[in-house]
Amino acid sequence: MKKDIIAIASDHGGFLRKEMLKRYVESLGFIVHDLGATIYNGKDDYPQYAFAVAEEVSSKRNVRGILICGSGQGVCIAANRVKGVRAALAWNIASAQAGRNDDDVNILCLGERLISAKQSKDIVKVWLETPFSKEARFKRRIKKIDERR
Ligand code: RB5
Repeated sequence: MKKDIIAIASDHGGFLRKEMLKRYVESLGFIVHDLGATIYNGKDDYPQYAFAVAEEVSSKRNVRGILICGSGQGVCIAANRVKGVRAALAWNIASAQAGRNDDDVNILCLGERLISAKQSKDIVKVWLETPFSKEARFKRRIKKIDERR
């Protein structure tokens, strides 16, 4: 079976958490594509990293993404500009589960400054393991979003 790929990236606000989470995601059996930052740069800007992950998720079927910045919000706003991306911020297990089950979220956004390392690992695990329910009402709502642009 083809292994799922997780594209991951962060700006300086999420760099340390990204380094930790990429090893964690690999330990769960996924292939990880680290799209930067490759070194800590306190002056970098999040859009380039958000777009790199969003483009990979948007163009390949077996790729999902994880984006981290200080609050998780900047990367989320940027990623959602790319067609086919459904990026969402999760701050606890319930929000991660709902995002996958109801909205087929394909990019998980996390805020390094707002949640602990342990919380982010728990969120990532449940997000990776929760399938989209494929219920008709949820598919209908996503279709309406896709038709918008
Ligand atoms: C960077 O300092 C910070 O603004 C950024 O990581 C993020 O939180 C933006 O939403």
